Amino acid sequence: MSASVINALKLTGLSEEEIEKLIERPKDQTHGDFAFPCFTLAKTMKKSPVHIAQDLVKRIDKDGFEKVEAVGPYINFFLDSKKLANNILNKIMKEKKKYGSNSSGKGKTIVIDMSSPNIAKPFGIGHLRSTIIGNSISEIKKFESYKTVKINYLGDWGTQFGKMIVGYKKFGNEKDLRKDPIKYMLQLYVEGNKEEYEQEARDWFRKLEDGNKEATRLWKMFKEISLKNFNAIYKKLGVEFDVISGESLYNKKMDKLVIELEKKGLLERNDGALIVDLNKEGLGVALIKKTDGATLYITRDLAVAIDRCNNYKFSQMLYEVGQEQKLHFKQLFTILDKMGYTWAKNCVHVEHGLYLDQDGKKFSTRKGKTVLMEEILEETIELAKSEIKKRDNLEENELNERARKIAIASIFYGDLKNHRAYDMVFDLERFISFEGDTGPYLLYSLARANSMLEKVKISKNFKITSVDNYERKLINELSNFPEIVVSASKELSPSSIAHYAYNLAQKFNEFYHSCQVIGSKEEKFRLAIVKSFAQVLQNALHLLGIPTLKKM
Ligand code: ARG
Repeated sequence: MSASVINALKLTGLSEEEIEKLIERPKDQTHGDFAFPCFTLAKTMKKSPVHIAQDLVKRIDKDGFEKVEAVGPYINFFLDSKKLANNILNKIMKEKKKYGSNSSGKGKTIVIDMSSPNIAKPFGIGHLRSTIIGNSISEIKKFESYKTVKINYLGDWGTQFGKMIVGYKKFGNEKDLRKDPIKYMLQLYVEGNKEEYEQEARDWFRKLEDGNKEATRLWKMFKEISLKNFNAIYKKLGVEFDVISGESLYNKKMDKLVIELEKKGLLERNDGALIVDLNKEGLGVALIKKTDGATLYITRDLAVAIDRCNNYKFSQMLYEVGQEQKLHFKQLFTILDKMGYTWAKNCVHVEHGLYLDQDGKKFSTRKGKTVLMEEILEETIELAKSEIKKRDNLEENELNERARKIAIASIFYGDLKNHRAYDMVFDLERFISFEGDTGPYLLYSLARANSMLEKVKISKNFKITSVDNYERKLINELSNFPEIVVSASKELSPSSIAHYAYNLAQKFNEFYHSCQVIGSKEEKFRLAIVKSFAQVLQNALHLLGIPTLKKM
């Protein structure tokens, strides 16, 4: 929001926040850059909104505006284009990577529980969403000066390991396991999951929880193999974590937690199992300990949350997890609250929807087979390579790295442009297209700007004689970035940044096609626009976790 508008409107007696709420940004530029509706003032001023608008326009301070006019019940503000251009371009070129950032999170820590795949299972498509969205939210929060702690909380504990161990004991051997581990482990699980082995599986998990040697050895082997596979995926995605944690680390804290629940009068016995009754809250019953003494996902999550609060003193803890776990997180936060932890209100389930295939079905299998993340990534990289080969002849290493980056841009942007809470179609062919609302289109626009900038020297002293329509639209968009960051952060919504980046690139391409830059009379001014555009797009891509490249 332009400070000059707020200043100008102070004479209404409204507060800054009230003005910000009321002010509109007309889509049609003939109504100005900002429009202020006078309806709400009618009550206090006891005049018609039309009269109020006319009266205010006479008295308003018009400094910084080309024009301020009353049209019906509205006051329309037209910013002084030259002043605006001068201010914004200089600001961007001065602040560079920091343009759009702010210090609202200074001294505060945000914990982000993200990615969190399950050991001995394929890295799921839902975990990919969590990785991409969690990573972007972390970048956005860091841009607001928060300290973020990205925690990968591996699903490495639970009754499924009893099933895995049974499957392995009955059908498995290490040699085959090492050959094609992920698919093999999946098979072992399917075998061990059969009804006839239910009791044996339960016994094995019990043994694992009690520290049995053989159970522990097998579990460690599954974990080590899985981690190797996950790490290769993270490397390709270019995502890193601050902490690698996992459910297994909390096994030893279960007793203490159960005692605490008991002391606080929350535990009830039910057929030999321990539960917390949340029926009053409309959340059913949370199972804390099974009849056989085994603990559950939620039991561990309770201990984890308390531990993280002690360790990080977070101002907020975000769980970037699919919406199918809604009930789990509602139960978790409610129990923490009942335990007297006031910080429970600072825990948020940042849910995401599903990936769907073209037929609208859950995207997790293809031709009946589980889709493996490695395969998707490889396929995307191959698609990117064939696109690059159409335009450039590159040496192997460079080709690989450029293709990887384009693949990341395709997948990350393909995901992040959708509001995270909605289901979305995972359509690689569309994601990777160089045209339309895609990641590669953004990289391409950036490369176009950079190649122009490479050819010339940019001077800081540009004179603006006039600002035409395309320049004006692009500069306006550049000036919006800081506000977009604030709202994306507040709403935990990377899609706002994604939309912004796309709009910005479109405005740049319109400008590029209608305004000659190099060799024109306006060269210095227009180069400053190009330079600022490249900077802001790069900042936006950075917030999405998308790496940039010099050439496409
Ligand atoms: N491993 C779990 C899953 O794949 C996600 C864990 C999310 N984080 C948590 N603290 N519960 O479903």
